[in-house]
Amino acid sequence: MVSSNQVKAENSPHILVLGMGGTIAGLASNPTENPSSYKAGELGIETLLATIQESIPGHLKLLAQQVANINSRDLGEDLLTLLGNLVKTSLENPAVQGIVITHGTDTIEEAGFFLAATCGKLAENLGKRVVLTGAMLPANAPQADGPLNLLDALKWAATAPENCPGGVFAVFAGKVCLARDLAKRHTSALNAPLMDSPSSPVGLVNPSWMSRVRAIQKVSGDDLTIPQDLWPWVEILTSHAGARSETIEFLTNKGIQGLVLAGTGLGGFHQAWDEALKLAQDKGIAIIKTTRTGAGKIEEESALGLTAGNLCAPRARIALQLALNAAKADKSLTWQDFFARMAVLPDIR
Ligand code: SIN
Repeated sequence: MVSSNQVKAENSPHILVLGMGGTIAGLASNPTENPSSYKAGELGIETLLATIQESIPGHLKLLAQQVANINSRDLGEDLLTLLGNLVKTSLENPAVQGIVITHGTDTIEEAGFFLAATCGKLAENLGKRVVLTGAMLPANAPQADGPLNLLDALKWAATAPENCPGGVFAVFAGKVCLARDLAKRHTSALNAPLMDSPSSPVGLVNPSWMSRVRAIQKVSGDDLTIPQDLWPWVEILTSHAGARSETIEFLTNKGIQGLVLAGTGLGGFHQAWDEALKLAQDKGIAIIKTTRTGAGKIEEESALGLTAGNLCAPRARIALQLALNAAKADKSLTWQDFFARMAVLPDIR
């Protein structure tokens, strides 16, 4: 239910709260004994807000909207398009002061990177914040982390502009990070989505983290276009002992447009892939190199593919899709130019 301190009148200043589903909206059948056995995306966004109603600062006016209610492992590109369009038009609405999105943690890094790349400049220029959050425990678990995460996200979205610039952020376990830095690195830790990301406590902002935020925003380019039809087909392939060329040959013949390689170590891949990848590249398939290690930069450039800097494979995949889409519409730049806009950023920790 929407409470008395929440508004339905879309023309009054408010924070827009968008529900996408996830564990934050999940329910376990036996929450006390076995909280990790649950179904994601069971509760509506208004119910989630109702559970923290007493703690929401009185001056905050909220408007809730259910966009989807899914387990985010099933996230599709059509839903990203819907979410991106909604965030963009809502940011442009003078009555919307900020946006909070509740999202499953499994693919929150993809949604976060996508929103940062397509709506980040707009949010920054308007001085508004888009804040993603979620939970690692279902809503009915005794130690459920969702309510506090949601409350922190609302507070971060409403933080005065002089204390934090606009942009796309994420909040988990009392910490805030740039959404482009999200990367789920643990199956169950409460801070899993940002445990390896540069972050700051929500309550007491770390000045060096804020300097990094400003430095990144200064060099990040214009927003990329949100794909409105079919997104370019891009897959992630992991190199491993015993890797074979057939997978690449199969995808090449099926009409794939891009490959993101999660290589070993510094981003190298099995020599069994050499020939097939060269053929794929000659056929015009875009190739990006990342590392399967989970951290660190890929530096080395070679004739084959582009390196993804410090983008992990899921984020590099979204970046490549957006770059291919942008290059299709704007022939004056290549997909490599658009990709560099998202991947070549200062590595300030
Ligand atoms: C999901 O991603 O929807 C389920 C897992 C989670 O939210 O932690």
